[in-house]
Amino acid sequence: MASPRLNGEHQPADALVLLGATGDLCYKKIFPSLYQLVLRGRLSVPVIGVAKAGWNLDQLKARVRDSLAKFVSDLDEAAAAKLVGLLSYVDGDYAELATFTQLRASLGGAQRPLVYLAIPPSMFPVVVKQLHAAGADAGARVVVEKPFGRDLGSAHALNQVLHEFFDERDIFRIDHYLGKEPVQNLLFFRFANAFLEPIWNRNYVASVQITMAESIGVEGRGRFYEEAGCIRDVIQNHLLQVVGFLAMEPPLNGSGEALRDEKVKVFRALKPLDPQHLVRGQFNGYRKEPGVAPDSKVETFAAVKLEIDSWRWSGVPFYLRAGKSLPVTSTEVVVELRSPPTKVFGVNAPEQPNYLRFRVGPDVAIAIGAHVKLPGEAMRGRDIELFVDQKQGDEMEPYERLIGDALAGESTLFAREDEVEAGWAAVDPILNADTPVYCYEPGTWGPKEASTLVDGLRGWHDPGADAHSWTRWIDK
Ligand code: BG6
Repeated sequence: MASPRLNGEHQPADALVLLGATGDLCYKKIFPSLYQLVLRGRLSVPVIGVAKAGWNLDQLKARVRDSLAKFVSDLDEAAAAKLVGLLSYVDGDYAELATFTQLRASLGGAQRPLVYLAIPPSMFPVVVKQLHAAGADAGARVVVEKPFGRDLGSAHALNQVLHEFFDERDIFRIDHYLGKEPVQNLLFFRFANAFLEPIWNRNYVASVQITMAESIGVEGRGRFYEEAGCIRDVIQNHLLQVVGFLAMEPPLNGSGEALRDEKVKVFRALKPLDPQHLVRGQFNGYRKEPGVAPDSKVETFAAVKLEIDSWRWSGVPFYLRAGKSLPVTSTEVVVELRSPPTKVFGVNAPEQPNYLRFRVGPDVAIAIGAHVKLPGEAMRGRDIELFVDQKQGDEMEPYERLIGDALAGESTLFAREDEVEAGWAAVDPILNADTPVYCYEPGTWGPKEASTLVDGLRGWHDPGADAHSWTRWIDK
C-alpha cells in the first residue's frame, strides 16, 4: 500500500537489494523491520541479499530466522515464512564485477530496485561504480546509512561519488531520528495548531534545550566510537534534525521537498559552532573498552550552544547535550518561554517559567508548564504541567517506517544533500577543536563544566526515567 505521504515522484520499488546482508545492521534492525513490513502487507517484492561471506541462501535464511527470534516478540509464523520466501542471495567480493553481474541476473525483470547500502561508507565508491558497470543501477534508487562523511569535505566528496551515478531524488540518506514517531509529532504539533505560532519566536522564547541521554555506554562499539565521538555520532545528525523541525518556517505544504527546503534554511542560518561554547566529556572507564585507545580524547558527552541567525530566532540560545553512561535513557526538548513583563502577584509568583516540553523517547509526551493559583486567601501559585499527549512508545520502529517509505519512493523523512552539507558546515569548527575532555563518572549528568554553558540561565533540565519525573529548573 502506498504511503499516505507519497509525493508522486517515484513508483514503488519492485525489488530490494541489501548490500551488507550478513552484517550487524541487517541482523539487528533491517530484518526485523522487513518482517513488520511483510506483516502489514507493505513488502512483497523479492529481497536479494549481497555479501562477501562465503554463505549460501540457506545460511542467509537461518540468519534472518535468528534475527526474528531475537528481536521480534509474538512472531507471526506466516509473515516470517513469507519474508524468508522472498529472499535470494549473491555471495561475492564488492570489488569484482562478477558479483554485480550476478546481482543483475537475480534482479530478473525488476526495473525499480531499491539498493540499500548497509556497508561502510569507504565501500560506497567501489560499489556504486560496479552497480553501474553491471547495469544494476538502471531505474534504481539507493538508501545510504549514516554517517554521511566525517566533516564537510568528506560529506561533499561522498555526495559527489553518489551523484556520478544517481540523481539526488534517487538518494535516500537515512537518519533514523526522522523516522521516530515523536519527532514527527513535534513537526505536526507545530504546524497543525494555530496557538503556537504567535509565541514561537525570539519575542517569547527565552531558550531551547535538547538533551539526548543514554544510560548505556559504547556497548562493544569502541572502534566505531573512536572514529566518531558524540558530536559526529548523534549531534551533527539526530539533534540537528530535531533543531530543524523546531526552528523551521512553515513549509509551503507537507511534501518532502517543501519540508526539506525549510529545514535547509535553518541549517544555513546556523552560526558556525564556537569551540568556546562546547564542553566535551568522557566517562570514566571508556578508555578500557575494547578498541579504545588508552589515552583516547574522544568525547562520549558533548554540550554545545548554537545560535540561529534568522529573523525568528536571533539571540535565542539553543543548547544541545548528548552523552553515554548518563543516569537515564531519554531524549527531551524543553522550550523555555520568557516571563510575563510584570509580576502582578509579586514575590509569590512561582519561579518556574512557562515552557513546552517534548519528550521524544523512549516514551512520547508533549507537555506545557503553566501556573495556577493555590487554594486559599493569598494569591499564591503552584506549577502544573498540562499533558497534551502521552503514549508508551513508538508503534512503528523508525527503520520500518523509513524502509517502507523508501520502498514506496517517499523521501520526506530522508536527508537531502544540501541539508547534510549545511549541517556539517556549521559543526565543522568544533570537530577538531583541541578543547579539554573532562572526565565524568558513569551514571552522572556528565562533567560539571557543562553547567557553565548555561550559566546565568536556570541550568540544564534533566529528563527523567519516565515522562513525569524530570528535574525542573527550580528543583535544582
Ligand atoms: C545511533 C547512534 O545513530 O543512535 C548510537 O550511533 C545511539 O550511538 C543511537 O545509541 C540512539 O538511537 P535510539 O533510537 O536508541 O535513540
